Amino acid sequence: MKYEKVLTKGIGEVDLTRIENYEAQGGYQALRKALKGMTPQEVHGEVKRANLRGRGGAGFPAGVKWGFLPDDGRPRYLCCNADESEPGTFNNRMLIEYNPHLLIEGILLAAYAVRASRSFIYLRGEFRKGFRVLTAAIEQARAKGYLGDKILGSDFSQEIVVHRGAGAYICGEETGLLSSLEGGRGEPRIKPPFPAVAGLYGMPTVVNNVETLCNVPFIIERGADWFLSIGTEKSPGTKIFSVSGMVRRPGNYELPLGIPLRELIEDVAGGLLPGRRLKAVQPGGASSPVLLPEHLDIPLDFDSVQQAGSILGTAGVMVFDDTVCMVRTALYYADFFSHESCGQCTPCREGTAWTARLLRKIERGEGTRDDIEVLKSLRSAMSGTTICLLSDFSITYLQSVLKHFAHEFEAHIEGRACLAGHAREVRSA
Ligand SMILES: Cc1cc2nc3c(=O)[nH]c(=O)nc-3n(C[C@H](O)[C@H](O)[C@H](O)COP(=O)(O)O)c2cc1C
Ligand code: SF4
Repeated sequence: MKYEKVLTKGIGEVDLTRIENYEAQGGYQALRKALKGMTPQEVHGEVKRANLRGRGGAGFPAGVKWGFLPDDGRPRYLCCNADESEPGTFNNRMLIEYNPHLLIEGILLAAYAVRASRSFIYLRGEFRKGFRVLTAAIEQARAKGYLGDKILGSDFSQEIVVHRGAGAYICGEETGLLSSLEGGRGEPRIKPPFPAVAGLYGMPTVVNNVETLCNVPFIIERGADWFLSIGTEKSPGTKIFSVSGMVRRPGNYELPLGIPLRELIEDVAGGLLPGRRLKAVQPGGASSPVLLPEHLDIPLDFDSVQQAGSILGTAGVMVFDDTVCMVRTALYYADFFSHESCGQCTPCREGTAWTARLLRKIERGEGTRDDIEVLKSLRSAMSGTTICLLSDFSITYLQSVLKHFAHEFEAHIEGRACLAGHAREVRSA
């Protein structure tokens, strides 16, 4: 089926990094509309009514989050989370590199709505091209009067600071991001207080994902009712699904929320490689529990995926076929989380490292059944016991493969060949 592209319209057809091309397809009209005829409260109200759910992972409604800022006269800040380090997720990067003015316009509208004194883009350090593109786009916008003092002759002034990240996954966690942006180590902070109350420099702060903010210009230009007409009742709008793994056409695909998983894999992404069978799918990044072939008909929206036992998360959809060893995937992620733990909390620092050690032992055929029991028991020790969710994230995928692919772990333990037919040569720790 063909769907209307919204956030990705024009990408691959026109050079949207040039402001004239962005304007030619309607760019900056929403900003104009808001500054000429809407109060900040009206912009906020429209986004709230649209039920725009955060695209950074949790699906929390942006309009509700904006409403948490206390009205106490302190300066307010807006931070765009452009750290995108989630394995299998690459939709923010595309928006930044190929549609930077959409992000700038979204930030300006959000800053107007929440009455932010200043906006920041916390950009993943490795996004060198994104940095060049964004800084050039900001200068183009300034030259046209969309940025700076008294934007388009209104009373609204705004600056956007692009801050390059420190190269750590944990800097994508919103309070780790704020610590890093302030110049400290990227260490998450205990919540509460939430950033809305005490965020950047202790001031009320909104943190939103790139894709979340990119939706705002369309909601303002076309209205909340238009937005609510796309997707599902509780998950309106489109989502850019980053599809990777064993499919013929991996890539970013913008589709209405609620599209069936089967349609995404079989039609949009071209299906599996010839002769392969589907084994499992992670619908939302590294921490999302696996979905199985029996789940192919579930709609990909926040609530349906949760009901099926996983999470939509970042919509980084990773497809595993029958050549994939699930023990190895678990080890791969365990190494990742162990490396990325910031080390503040003992269950996370020690737990992620021990998880990786046990999985490596099992993968090599040196594990025991007791090791499996220890891995299964991690949930109580590592979930809900730490400052941020990285610790919880590190075990959710593992628990799901221990449940659904127990026979693969047993085969490794019993010294039989890996069921996916892999030789046992694992990178050393
Ligand atoms: C370990 C960890 C890593 C995260 N990484 C990112 C990230 O790279 N980008 C992002 O937008 N959100 C990330 N988040 C979620 C953010 O903390 C925050 O919820 C999000 O930026 C809010 O934006 P949204 O409401 O627009 O989705 C991460 C969360 C955790 C726990
Ligand atoms: S859970 Fe892990 S990553 Fe998060 S603050 Fe604690 S040690 Fe750091």
